[in-house]
Order: sequence, then C-alpha cells, then structure tokens
Amino acid sequence: MSDCITIKSKTTLYIGRVKEIIDKVLPKGRVVVIIDANIDRLYPDLVHRYDHIIIGGGEANKCLSSVAAIYDKLMAKSADRSTFILGIGGGIVTDIVGFVAATYMRGLDFGFISTTLLGQVDASIGGKNGVNVADYKNMVGTIVQPRFVISDVEMLRTLPLRELRAGMAEVVKSAIVGDAELFSYLEGCADDATLYHHTELMQNIVMRSVAVKLAIVEEDEREGGKRRLLNLGHTLGHAIEKSTHAVNHGEAVAMGLSLIARASAKCGMLSVGDAQRIDRLLERLGFELTPPVSMPEMLRAVRHDKKKQDNILRVVMPEGIGRCVVREMPFDEFEQMF
Ligand SMILES: NC(=O)c1ccc[n+]([C@@H]2O[C@H](COP(=O)([O-])OP(=O)(O)OC[C@H]3O[C@@H](n4cnc5c(N)ncnc54)[C@H](O)[C@@H]3O)[C@@H](O)[C@H]2O)c1
Repeated sequence: MSDCITIKSKTTLYIGRVKEIIDKVLPKGRVVVIIDANIDRLYPDLVHRYDHIIIGGGEANKCLSSVAAIYDKLMAKSADRSTFILGIGGGIVTDIVGFVAATYMRGLDFGFISTTLLGQVDASIGGKNGVNVADYKNMVGTIVQPRFVISDVEMLRTLPLRELRAGMAEVVKSAIVGDAELFSYLEGCADDATLYHHTELMQNIVMRSVAVKLAIVEEDEREGGKRRLLNLGHTLGHAIEKSTHAVNHGEAVAMGLSLIARASAKCGMLSVGDAQRIDRLLERLGFELTPPVSMPEMLRAVRHDKKKQDNILRVVMPEGIGRCVVREMPFDEFEQMF
C-alpha cells in the first residue's frame, strides 16, 4: 500500500495515499479526529467520517488553554481509555494532539496524518509533543510515540508555497546533517514549483529526510547528545525568528544554515565550495539568505536563548555535506565566528 518504516518498534510510518491506508491502520473501536479549520475545509471527505473536534490554528493556539478546551470536548463526548485519537494537520495540530492524547486519562492511543512538509519530515516524527507557555516555545510536553504516522505527499498540493518552503528548509538541513546523496538529489531536481507536485520525488525526499531524523532520534530520544545535530542552523535561525515577524521558521532556518555554513568555512571546518553549494541550493529553492535583522541583534537574541546553559553554546557545525559536529563554545567564541 505504501512504503512504511517502523519507528522504535512503536510507530509505523506510512508514506503513501491516505485513502488507501487509513482504514487498514485505524483500530476498530471509537475514533475522535482533531483538526484545524483549514483541514476541515479542505478535506471534508476525510474528516467528516469521524466524530471530530476543530481547534484553532497558529502558534498562538499551541497553548495550555487549547489543551484544556480539548479535554473538555473529549469529556463531553465521553471519550474513554478505549478511544483512539487521530490528529490530522501540520506541526501545530500534531504537537497539541500528541500532548492531549498522551495525558488525557493518563494516555490514549493515538496516530497522525501529517499534512505539511514540515510535519512530514520533522514535527510528526520523534514522539515529542507539547505546547508553549507564555513566550516559551514547547515548554510543556511529553515524549510519547504515536501508533502510526501517515504522510501523503499529495496532500501537500493544497499547502501554500511559503509553507512548503518552510518544510524544505528542514529537508536541506537533514541532508547537510546526514545525507549527502539527498543533498545531491535536491541539487539535481527541477525548480521547486514542479518538484512539489511530483509524487514520487516528494515521497523519496520525505522518506530520506525522515531517515536522517530517525537515525539520530532512535539513538537519542531526549536531546542529550546526538539529537542536537538536528538543531543545525537553528541557533541563529531562532534568533532571527525572535527578532522579526517578517520571516517564518523555515525561512529563518534557511538563513541560519547559510550563516553557520559560511562561519564553518571561515573556521576552516567546511570547504568554501561546500558552503557555496549550500547557498546555491537554498537560493534555488527560493530562499532569501540575507537576514532582515543585523548580526548584533541576532547575537543579542542568541544570548537570551533558553537553550544556552552556563554561557556555553552547543553549536552544530557542518564539516562537509552530510557530516556535522556539535561544538561547545562560550558565547564570545561564537560571536567571533561572524
Ligand atoms: N514535535 C516536534 O518534534 C516538532 C518539530 C518541528 C516543529 N514542530 C512544531 O511544528 C509547528 C509548525 O508546524 P507547521 O509548519 O506544520 O505549521 P502549521 O501546523 O501551523 O501548518 C501551517 C499552515 O498550513 C495549514 N495546513 C496544514 N496542512 C495543510 C494542507 N495540506 N493544505 C493546506 N493547508 C494546510 C495549517 O492549517 C496552517 O495554517 C511549530 O509549532 C513547531 O514548534 C514540532
């Protein structure tokens, strides 16, 4: 029916057409579907077959009050320990739904249909779920693996191009972290607009990106060591995101990837040729690489980053395409790289 991989012996990831997969993987009992308004509007045939709850979209709704509102609705529907929760949506929906399912009545079985590229290559994979508290992202959450994740790349066709690109930044990141062949493959692909409509190419891209994340997450579920590699480009990416609303997460990560690749080249860790390949690929995919905020502003934001512990930053640096290391350095040393 599709390509599938088993993750941590708990989650089965299906990359294929949702209509051909869903009935075969859902348990027989009661199912409650949780979606946002866009999914409800775009995919009524998929959603309206089930009892469903619509939640607010956007980062501002990824919060404890949304979680509490879903608990109330589940109670009103008399959802019990035998109820299966199915989240259909992007990273916002799957982060909220995973957390709700992991905590309601001490945990219900759940699965995802991941509908954004970012969700398919990143947010739905790895079992981390959670919500923001005040200004802090993902402050409260759980690490519980869903029973399955279905990624149907044809659902990405209804996604705005800017959202697709946001996911593509994570794909490029995965390639630099651990898959040189994926990077070359992306370099060889046609321009992005046609790429996103090509089912087989996109399935391959999703599968390979997921494989990079899984190879790391399966070893380090809790971000103690290796999992940090997945933060490539995110130190400055987050700083850019914090400093301006002009760019989305993926656009900021693309800028962060370019900046850290250039810094690695400056330190002699990465060849200048590889740093240029990274810039060229990102530009071809439509990313603007000049940040809309100044370097001092970005560095100020890095200083305040919650992940900074004891003034030591753990910075992921590329040594080659497909090969990265985590370097521990004081903030001053980081500053001097730029
Ligand atoms: N848990 C993790 O490991 C992890 C990893 C990375 C990111 N995240 C989280 O993911 C979130 C971002 O996820 P996202 O980028 O998927 O954003 P999102 O869930 O907000 O989706 C983006 C937009 O696209 C819409 N949408 C979703 N699927 C669609 C489709 N098929 N067609 C048309 N529109 C569609 C949504 O309604 C939304 O408006 C962030 O909160 C981030 O923290 C979590």
